[in-house]
Amino acid sequence: MKIAMLGFGNIGAGFYNEIKSGYKDIEIVKALVRDIKKTRAIEADKLTLDYNDILNNPEITAVVDVTAGEASVKLIIDALNASKSVITANKMAVALAGAEFIDIAREKGVNFYFEAAVGGGIPVINLFNENVRPHRIDKVIGILNGTTNYILTKMSDGGLEFDQALKLAQDKGFAEPDPSFDLTGRDSAYKITILKDLLFDYKCGAEDIFCQGIDRISKTDLDYAASINYRIKLVGYIQNFSSGIDIGVRPVFLPAAHPLAQVNNEYNAVYIEGAPIGEIMLYGRGAGAGPTAASLIGDLLRIKRDGSRGFNVAYARGVVKKSSMPPEMKTQSNYFRFNVLDVPGVISKITTIFEKYNISISSMKQDISNANEPAAVIFTTHESKSSKIPSMIEEIKRNKFIINEPVWYKIGI
Ligand SMILES: NC(=O)c1ccc[n+]([C@@H]2O[C@H](COP(=O)([O-])OP(=O)(O)OC[C@H]3O[C@@H](n4cnc5c(N)ncnc54)[C@H](OP(=O)(O)O)[C@@H]3O)[C@@H](O)[C@H]2O)c1
Repeated sequence: MKIAMLGFGNIGAGFYNEIKSGYKDIEIVKALVRDIKKTRAIEADKLTLDYNDILNNPEITAVVDVTAGEASVKLIIDALNASKSVITANKMAVALAGAEFIDIAREKGVNFYFEAAVGGGIPVINLFNENVRPHRIDKVIGILNGTTNYILTKMSDGGLEFDQALKLAQDKGFAEPDPSFDLTGRDSAYKITILKDLLFDYKCGAEDIFCQGIDRISKTDLDYAASINYRIKLVGYIQNFSSGIDIGVRPVFLPAAHPLAQVNNEYNAVYIEGAPIGEIMLYGRGAGAGPTAASLIGDLLRIKRDGSRGFNVAYARGVVKKSSMPPEMKTQSNYFRFNVLDVPGVISKITTIFEKYNISISSMKQDISNANEPAAVIFTTHESKSSKIPSMIEEIKRNKFIINEPVWYKIGI
Protein backbone atom coordinates (compact mmCIF):
# COMPACT_ATOMS: atom_id res chain seq x y z
CA MET A 1 0.00 0.00 0.00
CA LYS A 2 1.41 3.40 -0.98
CA ILE A 3 0.46 6.39 1.13
CA ALA A 4 1.35 10.07 1.59
CA MET A 5 1.59 12.28 4.64
CA LEU A 6 0.38 15.85 5.06
CA GLY A 7 2.69 17.59 7.54
CA PHE A 8 5.77 16.20 9.21
CA GLY A 9 6.01 17.63 12.73
CA ASN A 10 6.06 15.91 16.09
CA ILE A 11 3.24 13.41 15.35
CA GLY A 12 4.30 13.01 11.72
CA ALA A 13 7.82 11.94 12.69
CA GLY A 14 6.45 9.43 15.22
CA PHE A 15 4.06 7.97 12.65
CA TYR A 16 6.78 7.74 9.99
CA ASN A 17 9.13 5.85 12.33
CA GLU A 18 6.47 3.37 13.38
CA ILE A 19 5.50 2.62 9.78
CA LYS A 20 9.10 2.32 8.64
CA SER A 21 10.10 -0.01 11.41
CA GLY A 22 7.02 -2.21 11.68
CA TYR A 23 4.99 -2.24 8.46
CA LYS A 24 7.01 -3.40 5.45
CA ASP A 25 3.93 -3.55 3.21
CA ILE A 26 3.08 0.14 3.73
CA GLU A 27 5.24 2.66 1.90
CA ILE A 28 5.20 6.37 2.61
CA VAL A 29 6.06 7.87 -0.76
CA LYS A 30 5.54 11.61 -0.20
CA ALA A 31 5.13 14.12 2.64
CA LEU A 32 3.71 17.59 2.09
CA VAL A 33 5.35 20.32 4.21
CA ARG A 34 5.47 24.11 4.24
CA ASP A 35 9.21 24.51 4.78
CA ILE A 36 11.33 22.18 2.65
CA LYS A 37 14.61 23.34 4.20
CA LYS A 38 13.83 22.15 7.74
CA THR A 39 15.80 19.06 8.76
CA ARG A 40 13.41 16.13 9.20
CA ALA A 41 13.75 12.42 9.90
CA ILE A 42 12.65 11.43 6.37
CA GLU A 43 14.51 11.16 3.07
CA ALA A 44 14.65 14.66 1.52
CA ASP A 45 13.40 13.44 -1.90
CA LYS A 46 10.11 12.40 -0.30
CA LEU A 47 9.31 15.94 0.84
CA THR A 48 7.25 18.19 -1.37
CA LEU A 49 5.79 21.68 -1.32
CA ASP A 50 3.44 20.86 -4.20
CA TYR A 51 0.23 19.06 -3.17
CA ASN A 52 -0.34 18.00 -6.79
CA ASP A 53 2.58 15.55 -6.41
CA ILE A 54 0.26 13.64 -4.07
CA LEU A 55 -3.16 14.37 -5.56
CA ASN A 56 -2.10 13.40 -9.08
CA ASN A 57 -0.22 10.25 -8.12
CA PRO A 58 -2.61 7.32 -8.79
CA GLU A 59 -0.45 4.92 -6.76
CA ILE A 60 -1.18 6.80 -3.54
CA THR A 61 -4.43 5.37 -2.16
CA ALA A 62 -4.48 6.97 1.29
CA VAL A 63 -3.31 10.21 2.87
CA VAL A 64 -2.45 10.64 6.57
CA ASP A 65 -3.05 14.21 7.69
CA VAL A 66 -0.88 15.31 10.61
CA THR A 67 -0.95 19.03 9.96
CA ALA A 68 -2.02 21.53 12.59
CA GLY A 69 -4.60 24.29 12.13
CA GLU A 70 -7.57 25.02 9.90
CA ALA A 71 -5.70 24.65 6.58
CA SER A 72 -6.21 20.92 7.07
CA VAL A 73 -9.91 21.24 6.09
CA LYS A 74 -9.09 22.16 2.48
CA LEU A 75 -6.23 19.63 2.31
CA ILE A 76 -8.61 16.84 3.38
CA ILE A 77 -11.36 17.88 0.96
CA ASP A 78 -8.87 17.97 -1.93
CA ALA A 79 -7.52 14.51 -1.08
CA LEU A 80 -11.02 12.98 -0.81
CA ASN A 81 -12.04 14.62 -4.09
CA ALA A 82 -8.93 13.08 -5.67
CA SER A 83 -10.33 9.67 -4.49
CA LYS A 84 -7.77 9.11 -1.73
CA SER A 85 -8.88 7.76 1.65
CA VAL A 86 -7.94 10.15 4.45
CA ILE A 87 -6.96 9.65 8.08
CA THR A 88 -6.49 12.72 10.25
CA ALA A 89 -5.24 13.56 13.75
CA ASN A 90 -6.51 17.13 13.45
CA LYS A 91 -9.44 17.65 15.86
CA MET A 92 -10.07 21.16 14.58
CA ALA A 93 -10.68 19.93 11.04
CA VAL A 94 -12.98 17.13 12.20
CA ALA A 95 -14.99 19.41 14.51
CA LEU A 96 -15.39 21.95 11.70
CA ALA A 97 -16.23 19.65 8.80
CA GLY A 98 -16.27 15.96 9.83
CA ALA A 99 -19.71 15.22 8.40
CA GLU A 100 -18.80 16.91 5.11
CA PHE A 101 -15.62 14.80 4.86
CA ILE A 102 -17.63 11.60 5.30
CA ASP A 103 -20.16 12.70 2.65
CA ILE A 104 -17.40 13.33 0.09
CA ALA A 105 -15.67 10.06 0.98
CA ARG A 106 -18.97 8.18 0.49
CA GLU A 107 -19.55 9.86 -2.86
CA LYS A 108 -16.03 9.04 -4.06
CA GLY A 109 -16.06 5.46 -2.72
CA VAL A 110 -13.12 6.07 -0.38
CA ASN A 111 -12.96 6.34 3.41
CA PHE A 112 -12.31 8.86 6.17
CA TYR A 113 -11.21 8.04 9.73
CA PHE A 114 -10.13 10.20 12.66
CA GLU A 115 -9.42 8.05 15.72
CA ALA A 116 -6.34 10.11 16.63
CA ALA A 117 -8.31 13.38 16.82
CA VAL A 118 -9.73 12.71 20.31
CA GLY A 119 -7.91 11.03 23.17
CA GLY A 120 -4.59 10.40 21.34
CA GLY A 121 -3.95 6.69 21.79
CA ILE A 122 -7.26 5.88 23.52
CA PRO A 123 -9.62 4.22 21.06
CA VAL A 124 -12.53 6.57 21.74
CA ILE A 125 -13.94 7.36 18.30
CA ASN A 126 -14.30 3.91 16.83
CA LEU A 127 -15.63 2.59 20.15
CA PHE A 128 -18.22 5.38 20.25
CA ASN A 129 -19.28 4.59 16.70
CA GLU A 130 -19.51 0.84 17.15
CA ASN A 131 -20.33 0.15 20.80
CA VAL A 132 -21.57 3.30 22.50
CA ARG A 133 -23.86 5.01 20.02
CA PRO A 134 -26.45 2.20 19.72
CA HIS A 135 -27.40 2.74 23.38
CA ARG A 136 -29.14 5.52 25.27
CA ILE A 137 -26.32 7.74 26.50
CA ASP A 138 -27.05 10.03 29.44
CA LYS A 139 -23.67 11.48 30.16
CA VAL A 140 -20.18 11.74 28.66
CA ILE A 141 -17.51 13.43 30.73
CA GLY A 142 -13.95 13.57 29.45
CA ILE A 143 -10.59 14.71 30.70
CA LEU A 144 -9.54 15.45 27.15
CA ASN A 145 -6.46 17.62 27.54
CA GLY A 146 -3.25 16.23 29.00
CA THR A 147 -1.55 19.60 29.51
CA THR A 148 -4.24 21.03 31.78
CA ASN A 149 -4.65 17.77 33.69
CA TYR A 150 -0.89 17.73 34.30
CA ILE A 151 -0.98 21.32 35.59
CA LEU A 152 -3.95 20.66 37.90
CA THR A 153 -2.29 17.50 39.27
CA LYS A 154 0.98 19.31 40.00
CA MET A 155 -0.94 22.14 41.71
CA SER A 156 -3.05 19.86 43.89
CA ASP A 157 -0.54 17.09 44.68
CA GLY A 158 2.80 18.78 44.11
CA GLY A 159 2.03 22.03 45.93
CA LEU A 160 2.90 24.20 42.90
CA GLU A 161 1.30 27.53 41.99
CA PHE A 162 -0.21 27.83 38.49
CA ASP A 163 2.83 29.52 36.88
CA GLN A 164 5.24 26.95 38.33
CA ALA A 165 3.07 24.03 37.17
CA LEU A 166 2.75 25.54 33.67
CA LYS A 167 6.52 26.01 33.44
CA LEU A 168 7.06 22.38 34.49
CA ALA A 169 4.58 21.22 31.83
CA GLN A 170 6.48 23.26 29.22
CA ASP A 171 9.86 21.93 30.38
CA LYS A 172 8.55 18.36 30.08
CA GLY A 173 7.20 19.03 26.58
CA PHE A 174 3.52 18.59 27.56
CA ALA A 175 2.61 22.24 27.01
CA GLU A 176 3.19 24.32 23.88
CA PRO A 177 5.26 27.53 24.11
CA ASP A 178 1.88 29.28 23.61
CA PRO A 179 -0.39 27.18 25.81
CA SER A 180 -3.51 29.34 25.53
CA PHE A 181 -5.41 26.88 23.30
CA ASP A 182 -5.15 24.27 26.06
CA LEU A 183 -5.54 26.54 29.12
CA THR A 184 -8.66 28.32 27.88
CA GLY A 185 -10.38 24.99 27.21
CA ARG A 186 -10.59 25.48 23.42
CA ASP A 187 -8.72 22.23 22.71
CA SER A 188 -11.19 20.30 24.88
CA ALA A 189 -14.10 22.16 23.24
CA TYR A 190 -13.14 20.79 19.80
CA LYS A 191 -12.86 17.28 21.19
CA ILE A 192 -16.15 17.23 23.12
CA THR A 193 -17.93 18.67 20.07
CA ILE A 194 -16.65 15.75 18.00
CA LEU A 195 -17.94 13.25 20.58
CA LYS A 196 -21.33 15.03 20.62
CA ASP A 197 -21.55 14.72 16.83
CA LEU A 198 -20.98 10.98 17.05
CA LEU A 199 -23.89 10.49 19.46
CA PHE A 200 -26.47 13.18 18.79
CA ASP A 201 -27.97 15.02 15.88
CA TYR A 202 -27.63 18.40 17.58
CA LYS A 203 -25.92 21.12 15.60
CA CYS A 204 -23.49 23.36 17.46
CA GLY A 205 -19.82 24.09 16.90
CA ALA A 206 -16.90 24.20 19.32
CA GLU A 207 -17.09 28.00 19.30
CA ASP A 208 -20.75 27.96 20.39
CA ILE A 209 -20.50 25.88 23.54
CA PHE A 210 -19.92 27.04 27.13
CA CYS A 211 -16.16 27.10 27.64
CA GLN A 212 -14.38 27.95 30.87
CA GLY A 213 -10.64 27.23 31.14
CA ILE A 214 -8.16 26.91 33.99
CA ASP A 215 -6.27 30.11 33.19
CA ARG A 216 -7.47 31.82 36.38
CA ILE A 217 -7.30 28.87 38.75
CA SER A 218 -5.11 29.14 41.84
CA LYS A 219 -3.75 26.78 44.44
CA THR A 220 -6.32 28.27 46.87
CA ASP A 221 -9.10 26.71 44.75
CA LEU A 222 -7.48 23.27 44.61
CA ASP A 223 -6.63 23.32 48.34
CA TYR A 224 -10.19 24.29 49.18
CA ALA A 225 -11.52 21.44 47.01
CA ALA A 226 -9.22 18.97 48.78
CA SER A 227 -10.41 20.24 52.18
CA ILE A 228 -13.98 19.17 51.32
CA ASN A 229 -12.82 15.90 49.69
CA TYR A 230 -13.12 16.98 46.06
CA ARG A 231 -10.64 17.35 43.18
CA ILE A 232 -10.88 19.96 40.43
CA LYS A 233 -10.62 18.60 36.87
CA LEU A 234 -11.03 20.36 33.53
CA VAL A 235 -13.68 18.34 31.73
CA GLY A 236 -15.61 18.37 28.50
CA TYR A 237 -19.17 17.23 29.20
CA ILE A 238 -22.31 16.22 27.34
CA GLN A 239 -25.43 15.69 29.43
CA ASN A 240 -28.47 14.29 27.70
CA PHE A 241 -31.59 15.48 29.53
CA SER A 242 -35.18 15.05 28.36
CA SER A 243 -35.24 18.85 28.02
CA GLY A 244 -32.17 18.86 25.74
CA ILE A 245 -28.40 18.66 25.57
CA ASP A 246 -26.10 20.49 27.95
CA ILE A 247 -22.58 20.56 26.49
CA GLY A 248 -19.48 22.49 27.46
CA VAL A 249 -16.01 22.60 28.93
CA ARG A 250 -15.32 23.70 32.48
CA PRO A 251 -13.29 23.00 35.61
CA VAL A 252 -15.53 21.02 37.97
CA PHE A 253 -15.29 19.90 41.56
CA LEU A 254 -15.49 16.09 41.36
CA PRO A 255 -15.94 14.00 44.51
CA ALA A 256 -12.56 12.38 45.28
CA ALA A 257 -14.14 8.94 44.80
CA HIS A 258 -15.33 9.69 41.23
CA PRO A 259 -13.39 7.55 38.69
CA LEU A 260 -12.29 10.70 36.81
CA ALA A 261 -10.90 12.26 40.00
CA GLN A 262 -8.23 9.54 39.99
CA VAL A 263 -7.00 10.44 36.48
CA ASN A 264 -3.77 12.34 37.01
CA ASN A 265 -0.85 13.99 35.24
CA GLU A 266 -0.92 13.95 31.43
CA TYR A 267 -3.43 11.09 31.26
CA ASN A 268 -6.84 11.44 29.63
CA ALA A 269 -10.07 9.56 30.28
CA VAL A 270 -13.61 9.45 28.98
CA TYR A 271 -16.41 8.41 31.33
CA ILE A 272 -19.77 7.36 29.91
CA GLU A 273 -23.10 6.63 31.58
CA GLY A 274 -26.08 5.16 29.79
CA ALA A 275 -28.57 2.34 29.59
CA PRO A 276 -28.35 -0.59 29.30
CA ILE A 277 -24.61 -0.01 28.89
CA GLY A 278 -24.10 1.26 32.49
CA GLU A 279 -20.81 2.97 33.26
CA ILE A 280 -17.68 2.80 31.09
CA MET A 281 -14.38 4.55 31.51
CA LEU A 282 -11.63 4.69 28.89
CA TYR A 283 -8.22 5.70 30.18
CA GLY A 284 -4.81 6.25 28.62
CA ARG A 285 -2.35 8.64 27.06
CA GLY A 286 -4.24 11.37 25.27
CA ALA A 287 -1.25 12.85 23.47
CA GLY A 288 2.29 12.19 22.36
CA ALA A 289 3.77 10.83 19.16
CA GLY A 290 3.63 7.11 20.11
CA PRO A 291 -0.01 6.86 21.26
CA THR A 292 -1.25 9.16 18.47
CA ALA A 293 0.67 7.16 15.84
CA ALA A 294 -0.97 4.00 17.22
CA SER A 295 -4.43 5.43 16.51
CA LEU A 296 -3.42 6.60 13.02
CA ILE A 297 -2.02 3.15 12.25
CA GLY A 298 -5.20 1.47 13.53
CA ASP A 299 -7.24 3.52 11.05
CA LEU A 300 -4.79 2.87 8.24
CA LEU A 301 -4.91 -0.88 8.80
CA ARG A 302 -8.72 -0.72 8.77
CA ILE A 303 -8.62 0.94 5.35
CA LYS A 304 -6.00 -1.54 4.11
CA ARG A 305 -8.06 -4.50 5.36
CA ASP A 306 -11.53 -3.36 4.28
CA GLY A 307 -10.81 -1.51 1.02
CA SER A 308 -14.12 -0.18 -0.25
CA ARG A 309 -16.12 -2.79 1.73
CA GLY A 310 -16.09 -1.18 5.18
CA PHE A 311 -17.16 2.35 5.88
CA ASN A 312 -16.81 4.75 8.78
CA VAL A 313 -20.27 4.88 10.35
CA ALA A 314 -19.65 8.20 12.11
CA TYR A 315 -22.45 10.73 11.49
CA ALA A 316 -24.61 7.93 10.07
CA ARG A 317 -28.34 8.49 10.01
CA GLY A 318 -30.17 7.30 13.10
CA VAL A 319 -28.28 9.32 15.71
CA VAL A 320 -30.70 10.77 18.25
CA LYS A 321 -32.09 14.18 17.27
CA LYS A 322 -31.81 16.65 20.15
CA SER A 323 -32.12 20.32 20.86
CA SER A 324 -30.27 22.54 23.30
CA MET A 325 -31.31 22.44 26.96
CA PRO A 326 -33.06 25.77 27.72
CA PRO A 327 -30.58 27.89 29.76
CA GLU A 328 -33.25 28.71 32.38
CA MET A 329 -33.55 24.99 33.23
CA LYS A 330 -29.88 24.57 34.13
CA THR A 331 -29.09 24.42 37.84
CA GLN A 332 -25.85 23.83 39.70
CA SER A 333 -24.02 24.13 43.02
CA ASN A 334 -21.06 26.47 42.85
CA TYR A 335 -17.77 27.48 44.31
CA PHE A 336 -16.97 31.21 44.20
CA ARG A 337 -13.70 32.93 45.10
CA PHE A 338 -13.57 36.71 45.41
CA ASN A 339 -10.28 38.45 45.98
CA VAL A 340 -11.22 41.49 48.03
CA LEU A 341 -9.70 44.33 49.95
CA ASP A 342 -10.39 43.60 53.57
CA VAL A 343 -12.55 46.62 54.37
CA PRO A 344 -15.62 46.67 56.65
CA GLY A 345 -18.91 45.40 55.18
CA VAL A 346 -17.45 43.29 52.35
CA ILE A 347 -19.13 40.04 53.35
CA SER A 348 -22.54 41.56 53.95
CA LYS A 349 -22.44 43.39 50.59
CA ILE A 350 -21.60 40.18 48.74
CA THR A 351 -24.17 38.06 50.58
CA THR A 352 -26.90 40.65 49.95
CA ILE A 353 -26.25 40.36 46.20
CA PHE A 354 -26.33 36.54 46.40
CA GLU A 355 -29.72 36.85 48.11
CA LYS A 356 -31.01 39.26 45.47
CA TYR A 357 -30.25 36.68 42.75
CA ASN A 358 -31.77 33.85 44.79
CA ILE A 359 -28.48 31.99 45.04
CA SER A 360 -28.41 30.37 48.44
CA ILE A 361 -25.05 30.15 50.23
CA SER A 362 -24.11 26.83 51.84
CA SER A 363 -20.70 27.81 53.28
CA MET A 364 -18.33 30.74 53.58
CA LYS A 365 -14.59 30.91 54.32
CA GLN A 366 -12.36 33.95 54.64
CA ASP A 367 -8.57 34.06 54.90
CA ILE A 368 -7.18 35.62 58.01
CA SER A 369 -5.97 38.99 56.78
CA ASN A 370 -4.93 42.44 57.87
CA ALA A 371 -7.22 45.41 57.40
CA ASN A 372 -7.00 46.96 53.90
CA GLU A 373 -4.95 44.06 52.56
CA PRO A 374 -6.16 41.62 49.89
CA ALA A 375 -7.89 38.48 51.09
CA ALA A 376 -9.67 35.57 49.43
CA VAL A 377 -13.31 35.01 50.35
CA ILE A 378 -14.80 31.69 49.33
CA PHE A 379 -18.49 30.80 49.10
CA THR A 380 -20.16 27.57 48.13
CA THR A 381 -23.81 27.54 47.18
CA HIS A 382 -26.75 25.18 47.09
CA GLU A 383 -28.14 24.12 43.72
CA SER A 384 -29.42 27.24 41.98
CA LYS A 385 -30.12 28.57 38.48
CA SER A 386 -26.89 28.88 36.47
CA SER A 387 -28.32 31.53 34.16
CA LYS A 388 -28.30 34.10 36.98
CA ILE A 389 -24.59 33.75 37.81
CA PRO A 390 -23.03 36.06 35.16
CA SER A 391 -25.30 39.01 36.10
CA MET A 392 -24.73 38.40 39.80
CA ILE A 393 -20.95 38.41 39.30
CA GLU A 394 -21.18 41.61 37.26
CA GLU A 395 -23.06 43.29 40.10
CA ILE A 396 -20.57 42.09 42.73
CA LYS A 397 -17.66 43.27 40.54
CA ARG A 398 -19.02 46.82 40.55
CA ASN A 399 -17.91 47.12 44.20
CA LYS A 400 -14.50 48.78 44.58
CA PHE A 401 -13.33 46.20 47.13
CA ILE A 402 -13.19 43.49 44.40
CA ILE A 403 -9.58 43.53 43.28
CA ASN A 404 -9.59 41.08 40.40
CA GLU A 405 -11.88 38.93 38.28
CA PRO A 406 -13.94 36.61 40.53
CA VAL A 407 -13.55 32.87 39.97
CA TRP A 408 -16.46 30.43 40.00
CA TYR A 409 -16.60 26.72 39.32
CA LYS A 410 -19.34 24.15 39.28
CA ILE A 411 -19.48 21.57 42.07
CA GLY A 412 -20.37 18.09 40.84
CA ILE A 413 -21.52 16.97 37.40
N1 LIG B 1 0.82 16.58 19.70
C1 LIG B 1 -0.02 15.66 20.12
O1 LIG B 1 0.19 14.99 21.14
C2 LIG B 1 -1.28 15.38 19.32
C3 LIG B 1 -2.17 14.38 19.75
C4 LIG B 1 -3.32 14.12 18.96
C5 LIG B 1 -3.53 14.86 17.81
N2 LIG B 1 -2.65 15.84 17.45
C6 LIG B 1 -2.90 16.59 16.22
O2 LIG B 1 -1.93 16.18 15.27
C7 LIG B 1 -1.63 17.26 14.39
C8 LIG B 1 -0.12 17.47 14.35
O3 LIG B 1 0.36 17.80 15.64
P1 LIG B 1 1.92 18.02 15.89
O4 LIG B 1 2.08 18.08 17.37
O5 LIG B 1 2.72 17.06 15.10
O6 LIG B 1 2.11 19.51 15.28
P2 LIG B 1 3.44 20.16 14.68
O7 LIG B 1 4.65 19.54 15.28
O8 LIG B 1 3.24 21.62 14.78
O9 LIG B 1 3.42 19.75 13.13
C9 LIG B 1 2.50 20.26 12.24
C10 LIG B 1 2.98 19.97 10.83
O10 LIG B 1 1.98 20.43 9.95
C11 LIG B 1 2.63 21.07 8.84
N3 LIG B 1 1.69 22.01 8.23
C12 LIG B 1 0.91 22.93 8.86
N4 LIG B 1 0.15 23.58 7.96
C13 LIG B 1 0.47 23.06 6.76
C14 LIG B 1 0.04 23.30 5.45
N5 LIG B 1 -0.88 24.26 5.21
N6 LIG B 1 0.56 22.56 4.46
C15 LIG B 1 1.49 21.63 4.71
N7 LIG B 1 1.95 21.32 5.93
C16 LIG B 1 1.44 22.05 6.94
C17 LIG B 1 3.85 21.74 9.45
O11 LIG B 1 4.77 21.96 8.41
P3 LIG B 1 6.18 22.69 8.64
O12 LIG B 1 6.95 21.77 9.52
O13 LIG B 1 6.75 22.82 7.31
O14 LIG B 1 5.85 23.99 9.33
C18 LIG B 1 4.29 20.64 10.44
O15 LIG B 1 5.11 19.72 9.82
C19 LIG B 1 -2.38 18.48 14.92
O16 LIG B 1 -3.56 18.64 14.18
C20 LIG B 1 -2.70 18.10 16.35
O17 LIG B 1 -3.89 18.71 16.83
C21 LIG B 1 -1.52 16.10 18.17
